[in-house]
Amino acid sequence: MEKFIVQHSGPLRGSVRISGAKNAALPILAACLLTQEPCLIQNVPPLTDIFAMTALLRGFGAEVSFDTAAQTISVRAQQLSVSSASYEAAGKMRASFLAAGPLLARLQKASLPLPGGCPIGSRPIDLHLKGFSLMGVSNRQEHGIVELWCKNLRGKPVYLDFPSVGATENLMMAAVLAKGVTIIENAAAEPEIVDLADFLRKMGADITGDGTDTITIRGVKELTGAVHQVIPDRIEAGTFMAAAAITGGEVCLEGIGEELLKPVIAKLAECSVKTEATSAGLVVCRKSRLRPVNVKTMPYPGFPTDMQAPFMSLLTLAKGTSMITETVFENRFIHAGELQRMGADIKIDSRSAIIEGVEELTGASVRATDLRAGAALILSALAAKGETEISDIYHIERGYYQIDEKLRQLGADIRRSESS
Ligand code: EPZ
Repeated sequence: MEKFIVQHSGPLRGSVRISGAKNAALPILAACLLTQEPCLIQNVPPLTDIFAMTALLRGFGAEVSFDTAAQTISVRAQQLSVSSASYEAAGKMRASFLAAGPLLARLQKASLPLPGGCPIGSRPIDLHLKGFSLMGVSNRQEHGIVELWCKNLRGKPVYLDFPSVGATENLMMAAVLAKGVTIIENAAAEPEIVDLADFLRKMGADITGDGTDTITIRGVKELTGAVHQVIPDRIEAGTFMAAAAITGGEVCLEGIGEELLKPVIAKLAECSVKTEATSAGLVVCRKSRLRPVNVKTMPYPGFPTDMQAPFMSLLTLAKGTSMITETVFENRFIHAGELQRMGADIKIDSRSAIIEGVEELTGASVRATDLRAGAALILSALAAKGETEISDIYHIERGYYQIDEKLRQLGADIRRSESS
C-alpha cells in the first residue's frame, strides 16, 4: 500500500487551484438518475469516491463517461435496468445511499446496502427512512440490504430531528417528482445542498428555501437533462488554509471566494491567521505566533466538522490551551492518538478535546484513519521536525485530488512511496 513520506517543510508559498467539491458532486451525480435525458457535470475531480459513484450509476444501467482530463462527467440514465446495487459497488461508500431518492422517484423501488459505519460514527439512516415513510415508502432491512418500495411518492411535510446533509439531499431528490408539496423542516443548509438544488432547478424542479432550514419542493411531472458546474471544495480550501497557517507561509487559493469559508476564516483570524480576498484568489498568511482558540463544530453555517481534524493539527502548535467540541459525529477524535505520537498534548473527554500547545512536533510513523484525519496528519508532518511516514493514504485520496502534487507546488517536501 502506498504511503506519504513528509519532511519538515518551511513556510508554504504560492498559488493552488481548489478542485470541485466532492460532497456536492456525489448527490448531483445521483440526481442524474432522475431524468432519461443526458446530463453534463463539470468541475468534478477524479477522486476514488467519484469513481465509486460512477460505477454505481452504471450498475443501475446509466451510461456514464468520465473525461478525467477535462474533469467532466456525462450521465444518461435512459434505461434503468436494476434498482439494486451490489454490496461491492455500493458498500464501499456511504454516499451510495443517495441513489435511494432518485430510484424511488424514477422506479418506485430501490435496494441498497445499508451504509456501513465508519471510524467517525455509526452513520445511521433513520432520518432518511423516516422522511421516505412519510412520503409513502415502505422499507425492509435484512442481510445488510435496505429494500425500499412505494406505489407512488406523495409530497409531505417532514421534520428532521437533526439537519442531516444526506437525509436532506435524499428527500429533496425523492420530492422533485412526487405528487404534491414536500416541506423539509430543520433541513441542512450546507452550500452543497444549495448546489444540488441549483442543479435540480436547471432540470426543471420547483425548489425554494435551500440554504435555509426550511426547503419547499413542489413535485413536477418530469425533469430534463442539464449542464452544471460543481462549486469549489470548501473543505479542501480550508485544509490548504490550515497548511499555510501551520507552516507560517502565504498561500493564494484560486477558484474559491470567502463566501463558502466564513466560519473557517473567522476562526483562523482568532488564531492570528489573516485571509484577504484578492483578484487572484483568497490569500492566507500567518506572520505571528498561533493563538489558541475554542472551536465547536456545528451544522452549517457553524464551523464545519470536516475541518475539525485539520484545525486540531494547527492548534497543537498554538501558544496556550485550546478546546475543540465535536457536536456532529460521535467518534471523530481518532486522529488525536496519531497526533500524540508526534508529540502533541491532547486530552479527550467524550466530545471535547483539550489541546495544550507544544513548542514543536516530531516526525513519526502514523496511520490515516479517515480522509480528514489523514489530511490533518499531513499538516502536522509539514511542521514536525524530521520525517513522518503516513500509511493508509487511500483514505486521503477519497477526498483530496493530487494533494501531494498541490503541496509540492507550494514548496512542501512530500512524496509517495510503496510501503514495504
Ligand atoms: C455529509 O455526510 C458529508 N458527506 C460528510 O463529509 C460531512 O461530515 C457530513 O455531511 C456533515 O457535514 C457527504 O456529503 C458525502 P449527516 P452525511 O447525515 O450526510 C446523524 C467528508 O469528510 N444522522 O449530516 O452522512 C449522523 O449520525 C464526509 O467529506 C442520523 O442520526 O452526514 C451524524 O451524527 C465525512 N440519522 C449527523 O447526523 C440519519 O438518518 C450528521 O450526519 C442521518 C444522519
